Amino acid sequence: MKIFKSAKSVQNYILSLKRQGRRIGFVPTMGCLHDGHLSLIKRARKDNDVVVLSIFINPIQFGPNEDYKHYPRSLKMDLMLARNGGVDVVYYPDSREMYTEDHCTYVEVNGISEVLCGEFRPGHFKGVTTVCAKLFNIVQPDIVYLGKKDYQQAIIIKQMVKNLNMPLRIKIVPIVREKDGLAISSRNRNLTKGNRKQALVIFKSLQTVRGLVKDGVKDTGKIKSKVENIISNMPGIKVEYIRVVDLKLLQPVAVIKKPVLLAIVVWIKKVRLIDNIILKP
Ligand code: PAJ
Repeated sequence: MKIFKSAKSVQNYILSLKRQGRRIGFVPTMGCLHDGHLSLIKRARKDNDVVVLSIFINPIQFGPNEDYKHYPRSLKMDLMLARNGGVDVVYYPDSREMYTEDHCTYVEVNGISEVLCGEFRPGHFKGVTTVCAKLFNIVQPDIVYLGKKDYQQAIIIKQMVKNLNMPLRIKIVPIVREKDGLAISSRNRNLTKGNRKQALVIFKSLQTVRGLVKDGVKDTGKIKSKVENIISNMPGIKVEYIRVVDLKLLQPVAVIKKPVLLAIVVWIKKVRLIDNIILKP
């Protein structure tokens, strides 16, 4: 496994592989690797000749009062997991090189970046799309792997790739959950044992409404109140939003006629947890 810090050196190395006709799969991450990331790596390993992983906690996607400083870091462990997972190239940039003093170019996807998480984290997706545009130019992948756990992020990046004619494909990979249903996230490490138990109510509420929809409920008002009720019964959890939206523009849907996204964000103390499911009528 090769490890690169500088953009130029990783770019040159990958370009030389591409000239040999190798297909490059790319998994961008912020590190603190877990089974969710590993499922993306596994998928990339299956489809490609070369798997590239980036580990970069992107400062510009964190708001001023967010957890950039406290975002979990575990490079040694990450490198071990990457090696065991079959990663060929790790790109581990330095933020001073990524954002030089003269950095003044940003990529913004309008509309879909401003709803859901965009409402509560202004500027977040601009930071995500800017870093992804940079990473895609540096790595020049054929296929990029993103998780459905961050559904909004994945479709924003997909839209950017389409609108900017980037020569790559995006593959969106299913959410990996713990045995008890909690969606795996680097932030779960910041939950105490007790909080970890409280967090189970998120998946429980999603499963309950999946059942309701299966039984024929189509009114999204009813669905949202059910989720809200289940969660409000668990003390210590604060809901940021519960929304039912269409899969493309992420606009609210009143009556379910085709598959929709139920997206939910909650806070347990200072930990922000995000989850979603697709509801099919
Ligand atoms: P990060 O949170 O490290 O996630 C990296 C990728 O792993 C994302 O595509 C995310 O959706 C996916 N992922 C996380 N948890 C998952 C789970 N339980 N199941 C399946 N996939 C999961 O998302 C980011 O980093 C950053 O915003 C990034 C795209 C790297 C840009 O900085």
